[in-house]
Amino acid sequence: MTAAIHPLRQPPPDRATAPLAETTALAGLRVAGIGHSFGAKRAVDDVTLAVAPGELVCLVGPSGCGKTTLLRVVAGLEAIQQGSIVIDGCAVAEPGYGIPPEARGVGMVFQDYALFPHLDVAGNIAFGLAHLPAATRAVRVREALGQVGMVDYAKAWPHQLSGGQQQRVALARALAPKPRVMLLDEPFSGLDTRLREQIRDDTLHVLKKSGAATLMVTHDPEEAMFMADRIVVMRDGGVEQAGRPAEIYSHPANAFVATFFGQVNEIRGRVQGGTVTTPFGPVPAVDFADGAAVDVLIRPEGLKLNTADDGPGCPAKVLAARLLGRSSWIHLSLGRANGERAEDPTPDHFHARVPGRYLPREGEVLAVALDSAQVFVFAAGEHK
Ligand SMILES: Nc1ncnc2c1ncn2[C@@H]1O[C@H](COP(=O)(O)OP(=O)(O)O)[C@@H](O)[C@H]1O
Ligand SMILES: [Mg+2]
Repeated sequence: MTAAIHPLRQPPPDRATAPLAETTALAGLRVAGIGHSFGAKRAVDDVTLAVAPGELVCLVGPSGCGKTTLLRVVAGLEAIQQGSIVIDGCAVAEPGYGIPPEARGVGMVFQDYALFPHLDVAGNIAFGLAHLPAATRAVRVREALGQVGMVDYAKAWPHQLSGGQQQRVALARALAPKPRVMLLDEPFSGLDTRLREQIRDDTLHVLKKSGAATLMVTHDPEEAMFMADRIVVMRDGGVEQAGRPAEIYSHPANAFVATFFGQVNEIRGRVQGGTVTTPFGPVPAVDFADGAAVDVLIRPEGLKLNTADDGPGCPAKVLAARLLGRSSWIHLSLGRANGERAEDPTPDHFHARVPGRYLPREGEVLAVALDSAQVFVFAAGEHK
C-alpha cells in the first residue's frame, strides 16, 4: 500500500476561515462503508459512522464482533480494504491509499497500554512529540501529565507504576500531540472494579476536555452507557443500532440490542387485536398482524412488585431473594402447570430487579405488574 498523501486530498489550506457550517460538517471522524475480511472471515461488514469533535462514541458488542478490527482500520494499523476514512475533511484512507498511522492525527490507547518499557514516563509521552523544539516538548509533556494528575511521576519507569497509573500515562501519551481523533480499545479492562470506576470517570472528563473526536471500544454495555454521548451496537461485523444511550436503552431496535443490556424475562405470545396477553397483563403490539408469534421481553426492572393485598398484578411466589447492594434480585414463579403453557416454552421462572432496600421473604406471594417502558415486543425468535 502506498503511504503517499494524495495531492488532491490535502485538507483545504485555510480551514480556520472556512464557513462554520462547512467546517462543522467536515470536522471530526467519518467512517463510511468499511468492510474488512481475514481470509474467508468477514470481520467488519459495511460500517458507517461519524464522531464529531468533542464527542465520545462507544462501539459496543460481544467479543469477536469486529470492534478492534474496525478501530485498527481507522488507526491505519490494518490496510483498508473497503470504504473510506475522513478526518477533519481530509481523506486519510481508501482502498489502495492510506496516510500512515502517525500522520493521521490519531491518538491511541490499547487494552495493555503498550508503554515503552525502556523509556521513563516523560520519555513515553515525549515520544510522539519529536517534531517539536525541546522546550515546547517539555512544556507539552508536563501539560499532558497534568491532565491525568501524574506530574510527580515524570521520572518513574513503567514497571514501577500500578495498572491505573499506567493507564493514565497511556492516555497522556495519546493526548500529548493534541490529536483530532482518539481511539481507545477496552482501555479499562485490565483494572479491578473499584479502580476502573475511578479511572473511567477521570478519563471521561479528560477526553471531553480535550475536544478530540473519540471512538472507544468496550464489550461492557454499562461502561458504554457511562462513557458515551452516542453508542454504536455491533454484532457479527455490522451495526445493529446507533443512537444516544437513552434511545438505545429505551427503544432497542431489535431483541439483540434489548438483551445486550442484560438478562431479560422472555414470554412467547400471539398478537390478537394489537395486543399480546402476558401473565402480568396485556402489552401493546400494534405493529403486528393478528396471530403473529412474538417474544415479549421484559427487563428485570420492568417487573413491579406489590404486596399481594395492596396492589394490582399477577400473583407470584418468591423462590429466592438476594440483596446485591444497590438492587435486589428476586426469583419468582407463577406456579402454572406446564400444560397451560403450550404456546410459551419459556420456564416458569422470572427475575425482578428492585431497589436494594426491599427484600421479600422466600415463599411470600406478591402481585407482579409491568412497567411498560421496560417491555419490548419483537417477532418471535428474531435474536436466536
Ligand atoms: N489478524 C487476524 N487474523 C484472522 N482473524 C482475525 C484477526 N483479527 C481478528 N480476527 C477475527 O475477526 C473477528 C473480529 O475480531 P475483533 O475485531 O478482534 O473483535 P472484537 O474486538 O469485537 O472482539 C473475530 O472472528 C476474530 O477472530
Ligand atoms: Mg477487541
